[in-house]
Amino acid sequence: MLTPAPTHGDTAWFIHDRFGMFIHWGLYALPARHEWVKSREKIDDATYRRYFDHFDPDLYDPAAWARAAREAGMKYVVLTTKHHEGFCLWDSQHTDYKATSTPARRDLLKPFVEAFRAEGLRIGFYYSLIDWHHPDFPIDIFHPLRDRPDVAELNNGRDMRRYAAYMRAQVRELLTGYGPVDIIWFDFSYPEREYNGLPGKGRADWESEELLKLVRELAPGIIVDNRLDLPAEFADVHTPEQFQPRAWVHVDGRPVVWETCQTFSGSWGYHRDETTWKSPEQLIQMLINSVACGGNLLMNVGPTARGTFDNRALAALKVYADWMRLHSRSIYGCTQSEFAPPPDCRFTQCGKRLYLHVFSWPFRHLHLDGFAGKVAYAQLLHDASEIRLLEPGKHDEWSIAATPSSTLTLELPVIRPDVTVPVIELFLR
Ligand code: GLC
Repeated sequence: MLTPAPTHGDTAWFIHDRFGMFIHWGLYALPARHEWVKSREKIDDATYRRYFDHFDPDLYDPAAWARAAREAGMKYVVLTTKHHEGFCLWDSQHTDYKATSTPARRDLLKPFVEAFRAEGLRIGFYYSLIDWHHPDFPIDIFHPLRDRPDVAELNNGRDMRRYAAYMRAQVRELLTGYGPVDIIWFDFSYPEREYNGLPGKGRADWESEELLKLVRELAPGIIVDNRLDLPAEFADVHTPEQFQPRAWVHVDGRPVVWETCQTFSGSWGYHRDETTWKSPEQLIQMLINSVACGGNLLMNVGPTARGTFDNRALAALKVYADWMRLHSRSIYGCTQSEFAPPPDCRFTQCGKRLYLHVFSWPFRHLHLDGFAGKVAYAQLLHDASEIRLLEPGKHDEWSIAATPSSTLTLELPVIRPDVTVPVIELFLR
């Protein structure tokens, strides 16, 4: 089995738990048309202010969020404490651009952390390196003011050193004021993205080494992602985004601890009119596929500006809850198997238990090449009903011809089990 190089942060629990909830929540929930709306529509601060002035999440109930996450089988959560718009969900002493100064009038992070801890989930903080509100953040390719004719003057006096110090001060608040934090998720670097003479940003701009040093000092076991633009070995977890790997993710030729982050509908922030919501099959298959390739899935919810998960998000979470209730043992503690799965299937493995996830239900027979004599018992995972094993030579005459002597054949019910993705549990000898 593949083993990634040891990490600085404590990834043992992370690799075991496999499934987390991402939450993108900020002022962009009000325009409700993508968390990048300020950049996409080139909205200036004065205009964007209307969302700050009307941010009043009166139905915010983090206990309900935490329950939904736990019921979905998620074991950790990563919340956008600050996204690219620069707005802070906590009562930061280094800015007024924060929840306490809006009609919400309270620190939204504290009750969040308490609620998720109470449900037994680990806590992760997303912190945006990008900041489209801070006056010291130089205008660049993604900044809302990038196309202003007076951009050079607007950039005058902006001091990246001061902004980097601001980030460290805020990260110190986050890692000292809210109890133990298990993950910090910095986002993101783009050193090569020059635009009309405006340089991109990377490690020299964020002062990434210093930032990371501070993080390691304040929270020794914390897991740090790979978006600080530092060499790969500095990161604990690699984060392919909205992308499904086909095999264990390798960086510089070596397998790494990895987590793919995905959305229900393509947008991270609440998006009222987005229609590309994934099907139940896609949702479950993404989780399976991640674990089958040795990785984690961080699945995102974008809560509304009133502080609720909308019905579409709740329905998607229910898909996970229903499936995980019966199948979580094919996920937790499992990883990529050394066996190659048959067509339209994935394997996850946990010791001597091999889980065969059947994405497309065949008629009666599923042939496992090279498995003759290797399986002691098999059952459908959701109801523990036996799946009969047809070892080579014990077939009916007409099927022998079709299968080589090393092939074990599973005899499946004709009717596909009524679960989103059926799983067969194989007990290896
Ligand atoms: C991207 C986007 C962002 C989102 C993140 C999640 O980098 O900028 O909006 O938060 O991906 O991975």
